[in-house]
Amino acid sequence: MKRSEINEIIRDADRFIQSFGYILPPFAYWSPAEMQARRDEIEGIVSARLGWDITDYGQGDFANLGLFLFTTRNGRAEDLARGSGMCYAEKIMISRHNQISPMHRHVVKAEDIINRGGATLAIEMFSSDAAGRIDPEAEVVVACDGLTKRLGPGEVLYLSPGESVTLMPGNWHKFWGEGGDVLIGEVSTVNDDRTDNIFQEQIGRFAEIEEDEDPLYLLVSDYEAWLG
Ligand SMILES: [Fe+2]
Repeated sequence: MKRSEINEIIRDADRFIQSFGYILPPFAYWSPAEMQARRDEIEGIVSARLGWDITDYGQGDFANLGLFLFTTRNGRAEDLARGSGMCYAEKIMISRHNQISPMHRHVVKAEDIINRGGATLAIEMFSSDAAGRIDPEAEVVVACDGLTKRLGPGEVLYLSPGESVTLMPGNWHKFWGEGGDVLIGEVSTVNDDRTDNIFQEQIGRFAEIEEDEDPLYLLVSDYEAWLG
């Protein structure tokens, strides 16, 4: 993706998020230079990989295959291993109309995917077989706002604003905005996107960036190069 495209997506996403009254944390609006100047005090942001995250899954077709994310909080893997402490994470995301987040599952992370507003959120789901692959025959049992739902393999669950689903590790899922753009909340277990996404197809999790203008804000995938 070109940096100019990423900057434009950030501007559009910021407007969309604010239109629902959702306010991002202050560091969202710190310039790259301010992030660098404040490097000593932002270790918690850098190490937890909080912030802007825009991906085309390395395929160069963001409108059809992509996701906007902003990680607002993310706990510690050591706490999760110990079974107490900051074991949770939160993101705000946008799936645009018919923009696919491709079929994947997680090994560690359980996640509540919440329609926070806008259009309908469509989620296609499968269960895992014993080897962790998609089971084309098993039903999918998930909790939706406290109610148990049973879906056929590959069935699509439709969530209206206010509705949510709890996905457990091993639940394969693919999702998109149905009929328009959707603001999505994610409340989950501590999350490491570098290691905990198993995709059905051989694709990446992060975009490759062509620097054709200065970044408006850094993406989490920029932190290593820009902030060390
Ligand atoms: Fe997921």
